[in-house]
Amino acid sequence: MDATTSMTGKTVLITGGTGGIGRAAAIALASMGARVGITGRDRPRAEAAAAAIARESGNPAVDVFVADLSSQAEVRRLAGEVLAAYPRLDVLLNNVGGFWAHRHATADGLEHTFALNHLAPFLLTGLLLDRLMASAPARVVTVSSGAQGMGRIDFDDLMGERKYSGQAAYNQSKLANVMFTYELARRLEGTGVTATVLHPGVTSTGFGAEDMARGWGPLIAVMRPFMKTPARGAETSVYLASSPDAEGVTGRYFANRKAKESHKSSYDMATTARLWQVSAGLVGLPVDAPH
Ligand SMILES: NC(=O)c1ccc[n+]([C@@H]2O[C@H](COP(=O)([O-])OP(=O)(O)OC[C@H]3O[C@@H](n4cnc5c(N)ncnc54)[C@H](OP(=O)(O)O)[C@@H]3O)[C@@H](O)[C@H]2O)c1
Repeated sequence: MDATTSMTGKTVLITGGTGGIGRAAAIALASMGARVGITGRDRPRAEAAAAAIARESGNPAVDVFVADLSSQAEVRRLAGEVLAAYPRLDVLLNNVGGFWAHRHATADGLEHTFALNHLAPFLLTGLLLDRLMASAPARVVTVSSGAQGMGRIDFDDLMGERKYSGQAAYNQSKLANVMFTYELARRLEGTGVTATVLHPGVTSTGFGAEDMARGWGPLIAVMRPFMKTPARGAETSVYLASSPDAEGVTGRYFANRKAKESHKSSYDMATTARLWQVSAGLVGLPVDAPH
């Protein structure tokens, strides 16, 4: 990471900054001088994480927001609290995402993977977009996965009601992150707000632990020493959130801080527009915003 990059005077919101890749990104960005807001589901855990991030970065400007992003009401409350707390927002890092081996329904009756990994960042970004535009140049960075390359948007069964596979649901949600970013970038042209998306690399975190597929536990234990540390896994997120080299770069997918091709269907503008329309309907945002 470029130790000379300064984020002093910038405000960054990171979803899921209490652990894993998000927490490591929070430490890096706070170390560069940014005011950093982190989110988590549990206040004591989030406050302990914020204290540790402040200590490790030497920057006391770390704020806590508490929300379960699988619930749209909580995403809306979170957005309201962020707008009240932050007169400007320079970077939104949509980091939260997870894997569930079995199908679970959210408080809104939606499939958990699609709701948390795709609809939550879609809704949160939509609700914070005016503030980002007013703070331009600003950046929306979304954490996808290499799994996007195996994804397929199943418009006939988006929520896995007929057939659920944890891997297919995850792949679909991560492809949706890429399509969302590309469509967002098109819609934000000329506003000074960029949208990029990334694969962090296979990283040793608590990822997938809530409902792990059978056989994965021992496999992950064997692989763990070969995985990236959270700090290394956060490098591309931090690069896209802060680097002067990434200024103005929009509508691109990155891995290891380099622009890469994403799944070929992600370049299909009719599919990305359709996904946007369906997503807007599912979260109750106007389809045509933003222009
Ligand atoms: N790890 C990898 O190898 C890997 C590879 C490719 C892509 N990714 C992507 O990288 C991103 C970060 O993953 P990670 O590995 O850092 O995962 P992780 O360790 O499981 O992330 C944990 C963070 O997510 C938060 N979180 C989980 N469920 C939440 C919910 N319902 N509402 C709000 N926050 C929630 C946790 O907050 P609390 O528990 O405090 O509420 C915590 O801050 C994800 O989008 C993932 O898909 C990871």
